Amino acid sequence: MEVVTTIPELKEIVNKLKLDSKTIGLVPTMGYLHEGHLTLANTARKENDFVFMSIFVNPTQFGPNEDFESYPRDLERDCKLAESVGVDFIFAPTVEEMYPNDGGIYIRAGRQSEILCGASRPGHFDGVLQVVAKLFHLCEPTHAYFGQKDAQQVAIVQTMVRDYNFPLEIRTVPIVREEDGLAKSSRNVYLSEQERKEAPAIFQALQIAKETYLTSQDVHNAIELATKHIETNSSGRIDYLQFLSYPDLTQVTDETNHFLLAAAVYIGKTRLIDNIIFHTK
Ligand code: PAJ
Repeated sequence: MEVVTTIPELKEIVNKLKLDSKTIGLVPTMGYLHEGHLTLANTARKENDFVFMSIFVNPTQFGPNEDFESYPRDLERDCKLAESVGVDFIFAPTVEEMYPNDGGIYIRAGRQSEILCGASRPGHFDGVLQVVAKLFHLCEPTHAYFGQKDAQQVAIVQTMVRDYNFPLEIRTVPIVREEDGLAKSSRNVYLSEQERKEAPAIFQALQIAKETYLTSQDVHNAIELATKHIETNSSGRIDYLQFLSYPDLTQVTDETNHFLLAAAVYIGKTRLIDNIIFHTK
């Protein structure tokens, strides 16, 4: 495995592989790898000649009061883990390497970004699209791998790829969880022992909401029971807990048969997100 930190080095490698018509799977990450990231890399390994993983804590997707500075970083550990699942190239640029200029031209995520995490984190998805678009141009992947954990993110990236004709396919990988159901996340390290004990209440609440909806078709009741579960079993503060149609992320109607049930909950100071996607009919 090779670790590349500059764009000229990366382009040289990519150009060579492209000349040989190799397939390239790209796994974009912000590092501090866990099994969720490694499952994306494993899937990419099975489906491509070469696997690139980017490790870059992207400043443009963090709000001014968010955790850009304190976001956990450990490149050495990440490289060992990435190598163990067969990643061929790590691209780990500095902020200056990725953003040497600011010509004032930005990508703006559309209406899918006005709700859920987009409503609580203004500009977040614009920053995600900015870095993802750059990574797509730099790595020229044939396939790019995203987790369902960030269901809104992958839906928005899919829209950019479709509407702006990026020549690649997006693959979505299911959520990897801890044994007690908590979705794996780099941010789980922020949780105190007590908060960690409470955190599985989020996934439990989502399951309650799903089951309630499937038996009663009553969205209101489903949300109420799930909210009660979080309030009773944790000190969590709910940011959102919502049913939407997926992947368009519009309000649920009688016609909806593909659902995203998504939650964001502050456990202490840590904002955790989780979701379930399911079909009816
Ligand atoms: P990051 O949070 O590091 O996540 C990288 C990828 O791993 C994302 O596609 C995310 O959905 C996936 N992932 C995280 N936890 C997962 C889990 N428990 N199960 C399955 N997949 C999981 O998402 C980002 O970074 C950034 O926004 C990025 C796309 C890299 C742009 O900066």
